[in-house]
Amino acid sequence: MLLENKVAVIYGAGGPIGGAVSRAFAREGARVFLAGRTKAKLDKVADEIRSNGGVADTAVIDALDERAVDEYVNAVVAQAGQIDISFNLISYGDVQEPLIEISVEDFLQPITTAMRTHFLTTRAAARHMTRRGSGVILAFGGDGPQTLRGLGGFKVALDAIEGLRRQWACELGQYGIRIVTLKTGGVPESLPDTIPGREAIIADIQQTTLLNRAATLADVGNVAAFVASDQARTITATEVNISCGALMD
Ligand SMILES: NC(=O)c1ccc[n+]([C@@H]2O[C@H](COP(=O)([O-])OP(=O)(O)OC[C@H]3O[C@@H](n4cnc5c(N)ncnc54)[C@H](OP(=O)(O)O)[C@@H]3O)[C@@H](O)[C@H]2O)c1
Repeated sequence: MLLENKVAVIYGAGGPIGGAVSRAFAREGARVFLAGRTKAKLDKVADEIRSNGGVADTAVIDALDERAVDEYVNAVVAQAGQIDISFNLISYGDVQEPLIEISVEDFLQPITTAMRTHFLTTRAAARHMTRRGSGVILAFGGDGPQTLRGLGGFKVALDAIEGLRRQWACELGQYGIRIVTLKTGGVPESLPDTIPGREAIIADIQQTTLLNRAATLADVGNVAAFVASDQARTITATEVNISCGALMD
C-alpha cells in the first residue's frame, strides 16, 4: 500500500473531493483524520472507510479558526504521533457574478478565505513536519491562463493558491516538506444534483478535454494518494494536472 504508516489530515473531508481523497488515502493504508463543519457528512465518509477496514477519526473544526486548527493538529500529533500529510479541501464560499455587479465583499470572500485557511492549516502542519524532516502539503487548484467570465474572485483565489504553493515549497523544502497542488478542469461527480443546468455543465467540462472525458472522484483520490506517497518523493513546488488535457500547460 502506498501510504502505510502515514497519518493524514483532510479538511473538508465531508465534501465530494475531500471524501474521495479520504477514502483513497485510507485504502492505501493511511490513518486519516477527517475535519469539517458538519458531523454527519464526516461520519458518513468515516463509516465507509471503517467498513472497508480503514482507520478514520472525525472532528468538527472550523478551518478558518486559528486556535481551533492549531489545537486540532496538536491533538492529532499527540494521538497518532505524527502528521505526514495535510490536504485542505474546504470550499471558499465564492459568489460568482460579473465584475460590474459584484460587491467588494463578495469578490474578496473566496480570496481571503482561501488564503486564510491554507495559511492556518499549512502552518499548523509545518510546525510538526519541520521537526520530523518530512511531510506533504496538498491543495486542490485550477490556475493557469484560461478562465471564464463572471467567476468573481474564485479563479483569482485558485491562482493565489499557486503563489502560496511556490512560496512555501521554497521555504519548507529544506525540511524535506513537499508542496503540491492538483488541478482539474472540473469533476462532474462533484457537482450537486440540484445545480441548475447540471447536464449542460458536465457536457461542457467533457468537451473541453482532449480525452473526451473528465477526471472522476476516483481519479482524484488515486492521483492524490500517489502524490502524497514516498513514490512521489521527487515531486514538489509544482501542480499535477489531472484535467484530461482541458488545462494545457
Ligand atoms: N469540484 C471541483 O471540480 C473543483 C474544481 C476546482 C477546485 N475545487 C475546489 O476544491 C475544494 C473541494 O471541492 P468540493 O467540490 O469537494 O467542495 P464542497 O462540495 O463545497 O465541499 C467542501 C467541504 O468543505 C467544508 N467546509 C467549508 N468551509 C469549512 C470550514 N471553514 N471549516 C471546515 N470545513 C469547511 C464543507 O462543509 P459543510 O458541507 O458542512 O459546509 C464541505 O463539506 C473546494 O475548495 C473547491 O473550490 C473543486
